[in-house]
Amino acid sequence: MTPTAKIIDGVALSKQLREDVAKRTAALKARGVTPGLAVVLVGENQASQVYVRNKVKACSDAGLHSVLEKYEAAMTEAELLARVDALNNDPSIHGILVQLPLPAHIDAHKVIEAISPAKDVDGFHVASAGALMVGQPGFWPCTPYGCMKMLESIGYDLRGKHAVVIGRSNIVGKPMALMLLQKNATVTVCHSATADLKAMTLQADVIVAAVGKRNVLTADMVKPGTVVLDVGMNRDDAGKLCGDVDFAGVSAVASHITPVPGGVGPMTITMLLVNTIEAAEREAGVHP
Ligand code: GUN
Repeated sequence: MTPTAKIIDGVALSKQLREDVAKRTAALKARGVTPGLAVVLVGENQASQVYVRNKVKACSDAGLHSVLEKYEAAMTEAELLARVDALNNDPSIHGILVQLPLPAHIDAHKVIEAISPAKDVDGFHVASAGALMVGQPGFWPCTPYGCMKMLESIGYDLRGKHAVVIGRSNIVGKPMALMLLQKNATVTVCHSATADLKAMTLQADVIVAAVGKRNVLTADMVKPGTVVLDVGMNRDDAGKLCGDVDFAGVSAVASHITPVPGGVGPMTITMLLVNTIEAAEREAGVHP
């Protein structure tokens, strides 16, 4: 099959958005405020180590202040809550990110709820989720927020369109559905108990695949002209990074598609920077 879909390049879009963050950072610094992000990592999870390194590097590249606090897996929940409390009260820190997953003996929900909503740049606090739900200002989770920016970048008008989200996680699927709804799409959320996924996706104008499993979406499940966003991060049999979408097949049917790597992935970190500069601007009373 011939690939006809246009690629939505997450690296190029990220570059553009990060330049804007860098400009806003410079403007805040000129007013004596350096935006700061604290990234907290507990334990030795290999993937988490890579993620946090990338997040901290992206901050310094854009001129933001960042601190990486690494703790041993044996850290107690009380100790972690005390660190979050200290960061809540640290004026040099505008955003707090506690990398997930946390060790099993720590209640992740309790830790996230301990983060001040004003510094919740991951958008995981129930106050942030509630704000998104009712359309009030708050921090949006970075991955679905990045997906919305990708749709915006191709000038896609969601009004009256049918968007199908595959996956219902609190981090991607559910907030994604709310963001699409806010832009006047008709939204269907599919998940592991959906009876006939293909019947749903064939009706879609936009598909967001966020399951974490290879080949969840194949060419026969997509009608011509659909926009396909792939949130998956998997490994194929050869150990190569791949998404949830059969890229080769679907790119012969879709109008636009995001690649993996180089699609949604870089946008997640970019939106973390956007949320952090936004947190710092709000704190400083600046509205760009
Ligand atoms: N673990 C995997 N993705 C994320 C993320 O976006 N934020 C946090 N805090 N942990 C994660």
